[in-house]
Amino acid sequence: MSLAQLIKNRRTVYQFEDKPVSLDLVESFIEAAVYAPNHKLTEPWQFLVLGHQTQNRLAEIYARNRASKNHEEGSEAYRLSFESSIKKFLAIPQLVLVVQNLVEDPVVCKEDYAACSCAIQNFQLSAWEQGIGVQWSSGPILKDPETFSILGLDSNSQELIAALYMGYPLAVGESQRKAVSEVIKHYD
Ligand SMILES: Cc1cc2nc3c(=O)[nH]c(=O)nc-3n(C[C@H](O)[C@H](O)[C@H](O)COP(=O)(O)O)c2cc1C
Repeated sequence: MSLAQLIKNRRTVYQFEDKPVSLDLVESFIEAAVYAPNHKLTEPWQFLVLGHQTQNRLAEIYARNRASKNHEEGSEAYRLSFESSIKKFLAIPQLVLVVQNLVEDPVVCKEDYAACSCAIQNFQLSAWEQGIGVQWSSGPILKDPETFSILGLDSNSQELIAALYMGYPLAVGESQRKAVSEVIKHYD
């Protein structure tokens, strides 16, 4: 696949086969990620590769956030939502969380977030090249103090900017973009 095809064909994937992703492959995606452009070579990222035990612990936080969004705690609807959310989260074959190291200067912070985003796209494209789909999630578990505690992170100096859910795709959806003519503006 050419680079242009890879970029255009990649889709966010939400459903995965029940098949593990090798850690060697995950490391190769991280290797591609860290070659992203980053201003002044701040290399402002860390990639947290989760094992089953940690995924189990985060599943509780994920399920609690989802269930409490629409249902009253203690209700039957809450319990059902909680249980289905646990199942959904544990069905993700592999999780990688991306941490941005924070600095005081807001300009540097903004540029570092841009660099992390480039890194994540490198990761997604490398995964796609190997037949592995990724969903970049920015859901509430990334803000939950319990997530920080479980992972031993410090919210004063670190921000969780992405949860990358990944695996071999069960289904790939479609995603349209505006025509280039709609987003381009020429100047003399
Ligand atoms: C900063 C950022 C945050 C995102 N957060 C989520 C998310 O929380 N949940 C989700 O399903 N997709 C999330 N996405 C993925 C987008 O929804 C997805 O890229 C978009 O729908 C276009 O689909 P495509 O990736 O298949 O082209 C996020 C993407 C970015 C760049």
